[in-house]
Amino acid sequence: MDIGAHPATRATAQDAVRLARELYGLEAKACPLPSEYDDNFRLETGDGTRRVLKVMHPMREARFIDMQCAALGRIADRDPALAVPRVIPNRVGRLWLKAAPAGEDRIVWMLSYLPGRPIAGLRPVTPDLLEELGAALARLDLALAGFTHPAAGRELKWDPVRAGWIRTHLGLVQDAPRRALVERVLARYDAELVTALPGLRRSVVYADANEHNVLVSIEPGRRPRLSGILDFGDMIETVTVAEIAVAAAHASFGAADPLAAVRPLVAGYHRRLPLMEDEVAVLDILVRTRLAVSVINSACRSAAEPGDPYLTVSEAPAWAALEAFDRMPPRLAHYAYRDACGLPPAPHGPAVVRWLEESGDAFAQVLEHDLRSEPVLVLDLSVGSPMLGADPANLETSRLAETIEVAMKDAGAAVGVGRYDEARAIYTTGAFAAGGSPTAERRTVHLGIDLSVPPGSPVRAPLDGTVHFVADNAAPKDYGPLVILRHAVPTGEEFFTLYGHLDRNSIAGLEPGKSIRAGEAFAAVGAPPANGDWWPHVHVQIILDLLGFDEDFPGVAAPGRRALWTGLSPDANLILGIPAGRFPRPDPPKTETLAARRRLVGRNLSVSYSEPLKIVRGWMQYLYDETGRAYLDAYNNVPLVGHSHPRVVRAIREQMALLNTNTRYLHDNLVRYAERLTALMPAPLRVCYVLNSASEANELALRLAREHTGREDVIVLESAYHGHTTGLIDISPYKFNGPGGRGRKPWVHVAPLPDDYRGPFRRDDPEAGPKYAAAVGRLAAEAGARGGLAAFIAETLPSVAGQIVLPRGYLAEAYRHVRAAGGVCVADEVQVGFGRLGTHFWGFETQGVIPDIVVLGKPIGNGFPLAAVVTTEAIAASFANGMEFFSTFGGNPVACAAGLAVLDVMKLERLQDRALRVGSYLIAGLERLAERHLLIGDVRGSGLFLGLELVRDRRTLEPAEAEASYVVERLRELGILAGTDGPLRNVIKIRPPLCFAEADADIFVAALDQVLSEDPVRIT
Ligand SMILES: Cc1ncc(COP(=O)(O)O)c(C=O)c1O
Repeated sequence: MDIGAHPATRATAQDAVRLARELYGLEAKACPLPSEYDDNFRLETGDGTRRVLKVMHPMREARFIDMQCAALGRIADRDPALAVPRVIPNRVGRLWLKAAPAGEDRIVWMLSYLPGRPIAGLRPVTPDLLEELGAALARLDLALAGFTHPAAGRELKWDPVRAGWIRTHLGLVQDAPRRALVERVLARYDAELVTALPGLRRSVVYADANEHNVLVSIEPGRRPRLSGILDFGDMIETVTVAEIAVAAAHASFGAADPLAAVRPLVAGYHRRLPLMEDEVAVLDILVRTRLAVSVINSACRSAAEPGDPYLTVSEAPAWAALEAFDRMPPRLAHYAYRDACGLPPAPHGPAVVRWLEESGDAFAQVLEHDLRSEPVLVLDLSVGSPMLGADPANLETSRLAETIEVAMKDAGAAVGVGRYDEARAIYTTGAFAAGGSPTAERRTVHLGIDLSVPPGSPVRAPLDGTVHFVADNAAPKDYGPLVILRHAVPTGEEFFTLYGHLDRNSIAGLEPGKSIRAGEAFAAVGAPPANGDWWPHVHVQIILDLLGFDEDFPGVAAPGRRALWTGLSPDANLILGIPAGRFPRPDPPKTETLAARRRLVGRNLSVSYSEPLKIVRGWMQYLYDETGRAYLDAYNNVPLVGHSHPRVVRAIREQMALLNTNTRYLHDNLVRYAERLTALMPAPLRVCYVLNSASEANELALRLAREHTGREDVIVLESAYHGHTTGLIDISPYKFNGPGGRGRKPWVHVAPLPDDYRGPFRRDDPEAGPKYAAAVGRLAAEAGARGGLAAFIAETLPSVAGQIVLPRGYLAEAYRHVRAAGGVCVADEVQVGFGRLGTHFWGFETQGVIPDIVVLGKPIGNGFPLAAVVTTEAIAASFANGMEFFSTFGGNPVACAAGLAVLDVMKLERLQDRALRVGSYLIAGLERLAERHLLIGDVRGSGLFLGLELVRDRRTLEPAEAEASYVVERLRELGILAGTDGPLRNVIKIRPPLCFAEADADIFVAALDQVLSEDPVRIT
């Protein structure tokens, strides 16, 4: 029955109010809800209780409503926690009855109201949410197991196992390629589904998890969570797997990579209600069939209502999904779903692997060397390989070849072995990238084994086979000349072996179909550039199913699909036979590293991100995790001139290889460094102490100040942090007032933060600086009453306090008060100094002051432990009171070499200018975002030391703490590192290495734009 052909008089809100009163004894306001044929109303009573009143289309049959009531009742009994509507009985205790609101008899019933919004258009739909949906659908089906109802056996056009009807409407699809696509789906439907049908599990299923029926709850700064499943009107008795197929078809709407959406759904479902192998086998065709039903249904409607543009728009995502599926080999989807269920991806895989394991000793050697007994060198080509280092130049073919040759020579090995299932950074061309962004996941995981031997070495077949494919994939970093052999195990299962990077001439005569005997030399190892431009080696890979990819079957997989692809290409060592003992123990997976760290290392050493990162390589403004995923580093200020900067690395390495000792002997590095540092400072800052950490340096600054003044008291800024030692915790309100803190010591005086965004004096007040500084005067007097002020210490742009830019005139006035009280002024330049601010080399210069003591650390060694204190002759003289000053590692020749190299790079690469240029460009981009995203309350900072303060309301400045942490977590998922800070934890901190480029700023701004557009942080 086509309800659409029988338009009914719509029930009104007044009808709903009356029906609620008469049938349910409920006084409520009614608000219509969108619905195609029925009239649904949200009711709200005086005490805020919400209900849904459903006035069904007159053509609706009572038995279907009855079925829904029975099913919902059963779910409520069996799984009361599952968020589906409850049916509310009316005054006479019935679940539904007929009324005639507009003259026609209509079924009226009432449901509880589920809060939330439909998942349609939600941003972001994460894999976790889809997995949650899959699990909820499984719970539904578990609750409905054994449920029967006379109405459930109906024929429904949406039932994907009854899709034959679309055949007669194919002519409505005008576009020939699209029509052919649906025909392909129907051909598979006939061949795979119709035959499998009798064996499949059946039950009554909900079968309508579309994007309008799945509700999610959104709270600011929290991941969207599933909050309900609605509309049981399409329940049918069909194959149980149709449940997940319908949800999968809708989840894949518009997706470029539909598997990314479907896999988590399947995994979530399977976790609660395990799918059978024969169900997984038909899932792909069921999903495609349901999509085909969807597009043909739209075509039918367009034909019935020509010119309705809405219909064309609404069918576009289904076509996009269908087309995306069509680009994928069907068995790949099947294998991907099996993998999502924890099954071996290829059903015949275990039999092949078992046979390979059992027959291993019988296989012929692939090379002239016996890999079972001869010494081989297992090479470390992983992302974090110390042999390769971080510099991409090391990955250039000739250098890589030389590195490998030298390593093999040093080890006395005739064969170098490149490992299977190893994530590598060596796949540098665009063919390994998933998209344009450098932070998108790349293919990194090696699916074969590399055998490094000189070019021309013969390559032999390990077992009998037939030549299946001969090709030359000439693109750089591809296979080059390759051969694929086909083999069969005695029980008939087929598999393939692939040999890549061969010598072109050696395979010139090979034709597909040619038999190759075990031990027969059928090819020779090639040389660059003709071998795909790799170091000389043969790549050997087992392939269980070529999937139609043939010569393009991947030799390297994306880490996110690691189990799938390693399942399709088991370890080639099954045929090579290299003894397991030759392989070094692989690095532990991230979970083990985390567990070991929790066990072995102090607990309050915090780890960033809810999903911690294991970083194994750093190059300039990028960090790389163990899977080779690149992260744009917008957070770390310590690698000032770039991670692993070659000039700094070389300086450290060379000095370390020559001498590292202490300052009790003369060495020119120390005085050279002191000379270079002091030359960057204004007079009278001329005396240097070189140390290991900023904490050590701030401790020394305190001692200098106290020795010089003979006093104890110190003025600090609210929310300041100066280091982790006992003395510095005492002068760090961020710590002593924070969790675990022991409060303020009497000798510490805390000045209010001169925050002109949030504090009492704002940017529109030209006198804000001196007004904030007046508090320093008052505190100096307070210290005076206690025996005198020793020092005032402040960061010249407070960082932990939230990337605060001090208002103009603040430090000048504060320093005046301090000096008038006899104290000294200490500038903590640990984070902001050294050119980062762009306009000036030192932060204090931006305030037009000269401190008495300057403290440096963090970035000045580019990651090598190095810190310094620079002060005046007078203060240094007071400190030289007879007590020796000695820091064992402070100022050692290696540290000073690092410091000198950093200064060289700053100058050579004009990094201060770059900080100003790129920083200004980034600020402009962030300010443009602030025009569109109300969450951004403030963009502040200078050069590449920036803060974004997030607020829920630009008037009240209500801090958006949860949103800030959401943004940082989501940026990390998009491959960008930033952090949060500030006393309200609502400031996004941006302070990248100074090699950050305009292109990086573009990536950052685009990603931030995407995240700020997501529902949990969007302010409308
Ligand atoms: C402003 C400031 N001073 C001093 C320190 C202490 O540095 P370190 O941990 O190198 O001792 C820090 C560290 O975060 C800092 O941010």
